[in-house]
Amino acid sequence: TTPKPAAGLRITVTAGPTREPLDPVRYLTNRSSGKMGFALAEAAQALGASVTLISGPVTLETPHGVRRVDVTTADDMLAAAQQSVQKGCDLFISSAAVADYKAASYAEHKLKKQNGEETLTLTLVKNPDIVATIAAGERRPTVVGFAAETQDVEHYALDKLTRKKLDMIVANQVGANEGFDSDDNAVTLYWQAEGGVKAHELPLQSKVSLAHALLHEILRVNAASLAP
Ligand code: PMT
Repeated sequence: TTPKPAAGLRITVTAGPTREPLDPVRYLTNRSSGKMGFALAEAAQALGASVTLISGPVTLETPHGVRRVDVTTADDMLAAAQQSVQKGCDLFISSAAVADYKAASYAEHKLKKQNGEETLTLTLVKNPDIVATIAAGERRPTVVGFAAETQDVEHYALDKLTRKKLDMIVANQVGANEGFDSDDNAVTLYWQAEGGVKAHELPLQSKVSLAHALLHEILRVNAASLAP
């Protein structure tokens, strides 16, 4: 029998949204279901990797054989990601839709309607950038990010590839019926190679089959740095 293509590799995948509390009963979040990240974790496990799946609040079953760490906020997700890298990680895939901002201060008690006020102003502060922190770390795995864009997908994806110092970026168009929560997705994978940026398009298909195709391409392009 031929060895599985990801045998011996430790792969960490982040998935789902983060949830940023405002008060004991309210929070900020987004429409990520976790399907893309869970499909990647399942595919990585099937290809022979040892997989850690760091997930925000979702309603999905843990793929068989995958180690799952549940988190709520972006701060929690960063801590879990750093711990996973510290334990040993060869490939880090950031498919989570991390909230860019959180409430500047958490209210211990339920926020009350202000008498006579028609508007309410919330002050938000920036969350840490998880994938950029991992990519800037000392024990740096191969790092693959996602870019969720509603327009100018290639332009913004390439900007994130460079700015966050990623090895590759998976760009997807998102919108009311695209990317988030659907069972299918279409993406373009970008990376910097000798002679310029390379792209590999993966047409609309189920997130499960897309995850397999993505992993094969990630392993092929990074074969040298992922070699045992
Ligand atoms: O979960 P599903 O319903 O299946 O939907 C899948 C998906 C659309 C969420 C997924 O395919 C996807 O695109 N995930 C990334 C969503 C996102 O937050 O993209 P972004 O362009 O805002 O972020 C760029 C990259 O930085 C991502 O790898 C993200 O994980 C990472 N990031 C962003 C902000 C932050 N504070 N920390 C991060 O690590």
